[in-house]
Amino acid sequence: MESIFKEGFRILPGFLDADAQAAMLRDVRGIVRAAPLFHPVTPRGKQMSVRMSAAGQYGWVTDRRGYRYERRHPEGGAWPPIPDSILAVWQAVSGVDRAPQCCLVNFYGEGARMGLHQDKDEADFTMPVVSISLGDDGLFRMGREARGGKTSSVWLHSGDVVVMAGEARLKHHGVDRIRFGTSTLLPQGGRINLTLRVVD
Ligand code: SIN
Ligand code: MN
Repeated sequence: MESIFKEGFRILPGFLDADAQAAMLRDVRGIVRAAPLFHPVTPRGKQMSVRMSAAGQYGWVTDRRGYRYERRHPEGGAWPPIPDSILAVWQAVSGVDRAPQCCLVNFYGEGARMGLHQDKDEADFTMPVVSISLGDDGLFRMGREARGGKTSSVWLHSGDVVVMAGEARLKHHGVDRIRFGTSTLLPQGGRINLTLRVVD
């Protein structure tokens, strides 16, 4: 399996073939049936353009009270378990013994994006974050650990996996834009990104 390092981010292009993507999409639909996508609001009151859900012991949420992991969906139910198809990717690429406790589901509709940020609400930064992309292409921007400075970008396609570990674990990253309708995986278009995290 080809693996490219860019700014310390390990990118595995085409990690999932078309059949594996379709199977995983069915599993993601199961997650959002149990835990419906919601539109999170930042602590400053700005609605995010992505919609979110999660699977696992924890989901990542944001609202006026701040960014945090919660054991329950904002509407009150427990998160569904992380499907085996998704756990298998973590087992193949994470290089650690612990299992992920959160699979964050981000859905990017037309025009959705995600600003540069760090993933730092987890307790142990020696644990990687593993990202899986499904559906339309997304322009993934990678920066530094400190704010500002040089960034570089790569288009992520359906089936690509990114491992944020080691020097990349706390680096800024975000999605500038998606190319809506570039993939046929989602009949209505859009991009799904799954991120697997060890939380506590
Ligand atoms: C994230 O950083 O949570 C999402 C990254 C992506 O959508 O590729
Ligand atoms: Mn992130």
